[in-house]
Amino acid sequence: MITGGGRGIGRSVAVACTKEGANIGLTSRTMDELENVKKDIEKIGTGVKVVLKTGDVTNYSDMDKAFKEFQQELGPLNAVIANAGASSKKESHDFDPAEFARIMNVNVLGVFNTFKAAYPVMNKESKDDKARFIITGSAAYNAVMPKFAAYVASKWAVVGLQKVLALEYTKENISFNMLSPTMVDTRLLRGKKAGDGQKPPTVMDPEELPIYYIFFLLPESNKMNDTIVDVNEVQVVRKVIAEAPPESKASWEVFSPYFEQKEPGLAQSTRKLKRLIEFLLKH
Ligand SMILES: NC(=O)c1ccc[n+]([C@@H]2O[C@H](COP(=O)([O-])OP(=O)(O)OC[C@H]3O[C@@H](n4cnc5c(N)ncnc54)[C@H](OP(=O)(O)O)[C@@H]3O)[C@@H](O)[C@H]2O)c1
Repeated sequence: MITGGGRGIGRSVAVACTKEGANIGLTSRTMDELENVKKDIEKIGTGVKVVLKTGDVTNYSDMDKAFKEFQQELGPLNAVIANAGASSKKESHDFDPAEFARIMNVNVLGVFNTFKAAYPVMNKESKDDKARFIITGSAAYNAVMPKFAAYVASKWAVVGLQKVLALEYTKENISFNMLSPTMVDTRLLRGKKAGDGQKPPTVMDPEELPIYYIFFLLPESNKMNDTIVDVNEVQVVRKVIAEAPPESKASWEVFSPYFEQKEPGLAQSTRKLKRLIEFLLKH
């Protein structure tokens, strides 16, 4: 189940998940956009179930109602992707407090509401196939951006929220992990210009991201908890893999010393992502 599933990153993750055979629930405030995603998925012809519900993530009762209905129509949820987000740019002294509060509410309270509504309807039966709660964070956590006070504050806050949830529920069969992209060609970053084919080369296509979300839905990541994946950093790892001679990327065992020698700093900073790198080596 994906919040913010009507466009941008949520949309591309939704399409990719259905290609893998997942039944899926999508929510955002705009039914037209959700219906367009459903039509695109139906054109692919995978035969999966796609359930749509409108709701505002800042309103707990909307989320509670949506998740109860998702459960009725789809059964217990294996995974929830808390992805809905908002941003706004202005010098801090000019930032409207109501706009600041709106962004904090969507990006922090929205994730909390999503978790609170999802928790009772998630499938937490199996230690070997845990329920997955995945948050779309941002590289704004760590890479501070002037004029984005509310957005940066919200993306730091959501890291704190993940840390609490990951620790609080360690005894239950549920994990919490975060993907933090830098710049992606969506309405949030480029407004109406999103998808115009003119994006700067440093901006990713939303279609480049689902591989990371899919990893966090697979058995390979079952034991991972409270990970934050810096997407830009892992994109560089993928480049190293792409450029490595075949004999140096046949397995983790051969790739690991090659990687250490080629990119010692990156190998060090991605040490905790061994399972993800192994997955990327295979795909
Ligand atoms: N694009 C980037 O460069 C970038 C970089 C790093 C992280 N991210 C993160 O990626 C996530 C997805 O953003 P995106 O880039 O894909 O932007 P997007 O295309 O603008 O999509 C945002 C989605 O969130 C939904 N949403 C916004 N406010 C909502 C609310 N109050 N209640 C329910 N849904 C709401 C939107 O639908 P409605 O407006 O119809 O509700 C839309 O489906 C966000 O968390 C964002 O912070 C984006």
